[in-house]
Amino acid sequence: MIPKVELHCHLEGSIAPGLARELATRNGLALPAGLFGPDGHYVWHDFWSFLAAYDRVCAVLRTPRDFGDVIYSYLAGVAAEGAVYVEMFCSPERPAALGISYAAWIEALAEGIDRAEREFGIVGRIIVVCIRHLGADRALAMAQGMIAEPHPYVVGFGMGGDEAKFEAAEFAPAYRLARDHGYGCTVHAGEVIGPESVWASIKALPVTRIGHGVRSADDPALMAELARRGAVLEVCPGSNIALGLYPDREAHPLHRLIDAGVRVTLNSDDPPFFHTTLGNEYDKAGLDEAALRRIARTAVEASFADEATKRKLLKEIEP
Ligand code: ADE
Ligand code: ZN
Repeated sequence: MIPKVELHCHLEGSIAPGLARELATRNGLALPAGLFGPDGHYVWHDFWSFLAAYDRVCAVLRTPRDFGDVIYSYLAGVAAEGAVYVEMFCSPERPAALGISYAAWIEALAEGIDRAEREFGIVGRIIVVCIRHLGADRALAMAQGMIAEPHPYVVGFGMGGDEAKFEAAEFAPAYRLARDHGYGCTVHAGEVIGPESVWASIKALPVTRIGHGVRSADDPALMAELARRGAVLEVCPGSNIALGLYPDREAHPLHRLIDAGVRVTLNSDDPPFFHTTLGNEYDKAGLDEAALRRIARTAVEASFADEATKRKLLKEIEP
């Protein structure tokens, strides 16, 4: 099995329907209305209804233990597909709304990460993400909260949500604070919006990675700039196809980005929502083993893990 490394997966977006049902039962909750279709899958039909479905599934989360079980469950599943390292996007918004302290939330996630490493050898780390459509003030508050209570497993800062809302530059204070305190930075861009969103992000924010960034393929000058900078794209083809950005894998720009010299990684984003897994993304990428191993190596290099962890991972994934 080819060793795999994942840099782009959302904690709440990783909850499989079976786990959502289990958590609802455990917490004595009815499942949110309209969450599942008759086939037992999450129901949504476009990017905005996907974000709404994503919010609905979050309603099954109530306690710190729930968050720990979600990350453990994801890491266990992806380890079985050959993953050795995962950076999980975790938003403090949800636990805060439940009255769970940042420290208790991180502690629960760390416990899930430790349990998965003990049982499966997989290493997990956390990227704290803000939600773009909630605005720049919340993003800054989140970065401030993150740096006020550092934890060795929290290695990066990122942003998801509705890419069409607000200018990238508005989030610069939050990102600069995170970067100045040693956190790696990534931002969702060039997914729902075109190359201009990626240009704005690389100009205004101290990011070394772009979440998705696939729409950069519409602009040769941008691809050249990304290649020149060595910026790394967290490409999630299954997500892009499920959300209708491209009709199929043949039309997806993964290979064009690689041919233009852009550094890419493969990721699952919100796997049960998009009927994919990290293993499926590697399997369906249309790349040979050597290219897939290069992608895993790029992901380790672009990860926000400390240097000793990176060296250990690089050794682990060498053939
Ligand atoms: N949050 C979870 N998945 C996302 C995606 N694909 N784009 C933006 N925000 C997200
Ligand atoms: Zn994402």
